[in-house]
Amino acid sequence: MATVDRHVEILPGPTELTRAAADRIVTAAGEAVRATDRFVIALSGGSTPRALFALLATDPYRGSIDWSRVHIFFGDERSVPPDDPASNYRMAREALLDHVPIPSHQVHRIHGEQSPAAAAAAAYERELRATFDTSEGPPRVTPGGRFDLVLLGMGDNGHTASLFPGLQAVRERQRWTVAEYVAEVSMWRVTLTPVVIDAAAEVMFLVKGAGKASMLHRVLEGPRDPDRLPAQIVAPHDGRLVWLVDAAAASELRPKEARP
Ligand code: 6PG
Repeated sequence: MATVDRHVEILPGPTELTRAAADRIVTAAGEAVRATDRFVIALSGGSTPRALFALLATDPYRGSIDWSRVHIFFGDERSVPPDDPASNYRMAREALLDHVPIPSHQVHRIHGEQSPAAAAAAAYERELRATFDTSEGPPRVTPGGRFDLVLLGMGDNGHTASLFPGLQAVRERQRWTVAEYVAEVSMWRVTLTPVVIDAAAEVMFLVKGAGKASMLHRVLEGPRDPDRLPAQIVAPHDGRLVWLVDAAAASELRPKEARP
């Protein structure tokens, strides 16, 4: 496996982190639209990205993206209805989607209300395959055949998307999306798998806060153990891997000169 071109950027605080992420998204969107006439992004869930979504929904960021060319997917979803407080889609809709002129058919949510969750996962994979014009096999690692950008967060247990420690989804090598019951959070989840994440042109982790410092050190500088630290499984085949972290989350990382 080719070595991954990993870039870790430490920002002073949450405000600078959010701004740096928004700047990167504007740049990536412009590059993708110029190259393929669209920008296909997967949004992360949880709480960290809310401030980023709100910033993207305000000028100058709002006016710097051609929303008519944007397709929004989700990295994962809880098995709840779209208006549930736990819904990643609801958070993105409230903070971003209700405030930008993106055509509704270009917002591709995971149907968390669908039961069984495996049916929602299968339907989502069909939607992804149609978007990337790849009816079977792995995503094409070419412009237009893959995500231009996948946003990810990292839990304090090392999970990312809904790839939780010990789940089979972490090692999935065929399917692009899977559903799995996550005992740790007592709910079914639907998640993108490394198959489609690693085909992306760019993967950007967003991690903030002292509460993530210990785990960030383990994930970035500890032994490779993706079954227990799923965030380590992410390794784009031919794309950028960027970690945008604030100083509090980076407080246990080795000094820059000591990092490989
Ligand atoms: C989810 C997210 C998840 C999230 C991490 C970090 O559905 O919960 O997709 O992977 O990114 O749990 O969440 P916070 O940003 O809230 O710490």
